[in-house]
Amino acid sequence: MAIIRNGEILTNIIYNQEIHRKYGGVIPEWASRKHLEAMVSLYKETLEKANIEQVELHGIVVTRGPGLMGSLLVGMGFAKALALALDIPLIEVNHLEAHLCSVLIDLPKPTFPFLCLTVSGGHTQLIRVNGIGDYHILGGTLDDAAGEAFDKTGKMLGLDYPAGPIIDQLAQKGIARFKFPISVLDGYQYSFSGFKTAVLYFLQKEIKNNPDFISENLEDLCASIQHTIVEILIKKVTLAMKNEGLTELGIAGGVSANSGLRKRIAQICKDNEWKSYFPAMQYCTDNAAMIAFVGYQKYLASQFADENIMPLPRMPVSS
Ligand code: KG4
Ligand code: ZN
Repeated sequence: MAIIRNGEILTNIIYNQEIHRKYGGVIPEWASRKHLEAMVSLYKETLEKANIEQVELHGIVVTRGPGLMGSLLVGMGFAKALALALDIPLIEVNHLEAHLCSVLIDLPKPTFPFLCLTVSGGHTQLIRVNGIGDYHILGGTLDDAAGEAFDKTGKMLGLDYPAGPIIDQLAQKGIARFKFPISVLDGYQYSFSGFKTAVLYFLQKEIKNNPDFISENLEDLCASIQHTIVEILIKKVTLAMKNEGLTELGIAGGVSANSGLRKRIAQICKDNEWKSYFPAMQYCTDNAAMIAFVGYQKYLASQFADENIMPLPRMPVSS
């Protein structure tokens, strides 16, 4: 939960659900139960940390989608009740729009138009951002998202969920000496399923010869997996930047925290005289500040939600 005042983020509290770690992924029912359990105390804590009384609030911003229906319902129910009780407007925000606008929260920020690569656990999208609310989707993934590719191959290595940050850490001590195919589809489409299968078959083959293969090569395996995912991402980013004639590039979503991706982006930007923008670390993975940021722009434009709105688990970014 977050509070924004005059465009400035006052508090941004992230409640992490540790329960999913041991199950290797998010269990939807647990996710919504834990949201409901935490909601009221989190709300009180957010107000307290911002030193704000609830009567001072002017609007309630809520994520409408995309996401898990159960979790969205808990958030939406709470937001509607608050807006009604405080007699203030309800504002709906698209989670993906918030990710791509997270590069605009702090300075320095990109100027319009810019290309945004949104890479999270559920999405991999290349979007031309002409302005806030003016988006042109160039392409996305046909199967897994980049974050999923990290998490699923990490699971094959026996790593906890989410494996992305763990792979990132281990990769820093390894060498990318195992070669996996870097799939190239037409246009701006991404696919990670071939890569995932290649890692699985490779590990199965190596483990047959040496049961300790993973533990003996963990850091190099992580470096190789990270290298491949980053190269798959970079190819289409370069193509889109050139074809669209853009010079400003934003990277958003959980995977934008990846140090290998950050280094590689810095390199292509230097080579091509482009400028890159990453959100501050606390705005990379899911957070309420980015939702508040987009909601604030909508508040200023009096774009309020209808009182009967429902969550949209598959809500697309509108162009
Ligand atoms: O944006 P996010 O918090 O949630 C979604 O909307 O999905 O992204 C979570 C994803 C997970 O797949 C996680 O493994 C990945 O972001 N992630 C990372 C890193 N930090 C988070 N992947 C690679 N390197 C990281 N440092
Ligand atoms: Zn997200």
